[in-house]
Amino acid sequence: MRTFISKNVQQLRPSGIRRYFDIAATMTDVITLGIGEPDFATPQHIARVGADCVLTGQTAYTSNSGAIELRRAISAQMRRLYGLEYGAADEVLVTVGVSEALYLALKAICDPGDEVLVVEPCFVANAAAVEMAGGVPVPVPTFVEHGFQVTGAELEARITPRTKAILISYPNNPTGAVLTPEHLAELADVAVRHDLLVISDEIYERLVYGVEHINVASLPGMRERTIVLSGMSKSYAMTGWRIGYALAPAPIMDAMRKLHQYLIMSAPTMGQAAAVEALEHGEDAVEAMRCDYDRRRRLIVDGFNRIGLPCFEPRGAFYAFPDIRPTGLTDEEFCETLLREERVAVVPGSAFGASGAGFIRASYTASCANIERALERIGRFAVRHGLAAQVDTLPV
Ligand SMILES: Cc1ncc(COP(=O)(O)O)c(C=O)c1O
Repeated sequence: MRTFISKNVQQLRPSGIRRYFDIAATMTDVITLGIGEPDFATPQHIARVGADCVLTGQTAYTSNSGAIELRRAISAQMRRLYGLEYGAADEVLVTVGVSEALYLALKAICDPGDEVLVVEPCFVANAAAVEMAGGVPVPVPTFVEHGFQVTGAELEARITPRTKAILISYPNNPTGAVLTPEHLAELADVAVRHDLLVISDEIYERLVYGVEHINVASLPGMRERTIVLSGMSKSYAMTGWRIGYALAPAPIMDAMRKLHQYLIMSAPTMGQAAAVEALEHGEDAVEAMRCDYDRRRRLIVDGFNRIGLPCFEPRGAFYAFPDIRPTGLTDEEFCETLLREERVAVVPGSAFGASGAGFIRASYTASCANIERALERIGRFAVRHGLAAQVDTLPV
């Protein structure tokens, strides 16, 4: 029998994250710092609105673009946070998470063979989404020595006549880097000079620590060439509600909406109701969670540094990205052996792109007590694998 699977799908690499969760699922007493989602439940007042939506029989589709109340709330949030104006009627689309929005954005712009510069390390779906859309992902590495900032020179060196867009995600998963105003200006300059679109996944926009997140579209000349993606999953602890959104000039949004209509119809109705509540009344909850993440961030970064695994200071999202090269192990060996020997789940940096090799991603979406226990185990592990350590100072 012939293979029915398309070449496009055959060529996709399976996510490098899954394997570690599969191993962890067969074990007991595992402390997981592997998962990229909040450990908080959705705040009660938000969840209640979603539940009421279902219980009062509001269970039909919404408008394809999303409930107009939600599109207005998203538009108002963009105005409040960044002074950006997006028309709720024609420039906002509610999607099934940023995951869907990412695919729609790429599918809407890629002709077969079009190249998209993918700034790495990044969310595991980014390069795959470009391929699924028929485009060619062109990795643009970032390095710890430059604070994982993308530079204009690195972008420019990879531009060809087929380059159509730059895909970035800051605050970054997995590094925690937030793009500085200088690097943002360089990126905008390259985009304008080479007439490129920017797709900017800003899903961690509300989770920053001591720095300001600047929306790419707010730079001069950028609104008309930017698709902004964001959503409820991370900042509002709403991963399971599956609500994301995209903002773009109307002609681009028309193309994305066309795809969304055929593919999805509309995002979950109860999730949309909850999202309105979150955007209109969720500010205190976001701030409380952000402060909690900030405490854990300091604990984990300090812990890795004390162990002797130098850790870049993350300024956003909820990930630490320490350098494990002092152990002499590869990041994959480190993660698999750590899991088997010490029952701590973390993710190899190379799962997020080649420039992540030699690092691991540890999510600090765990309690301080669990972070301390995990650090103790990692410290013990690192010493056993050849690292001369200051580990006796642990727990921190
Ligand atoms: C950078 C980034 N974008 C998008 C997503 C997916 O988000 P959503 O739940 O909105 O589909 C994730 C999830 O880990 C992420 O880290």
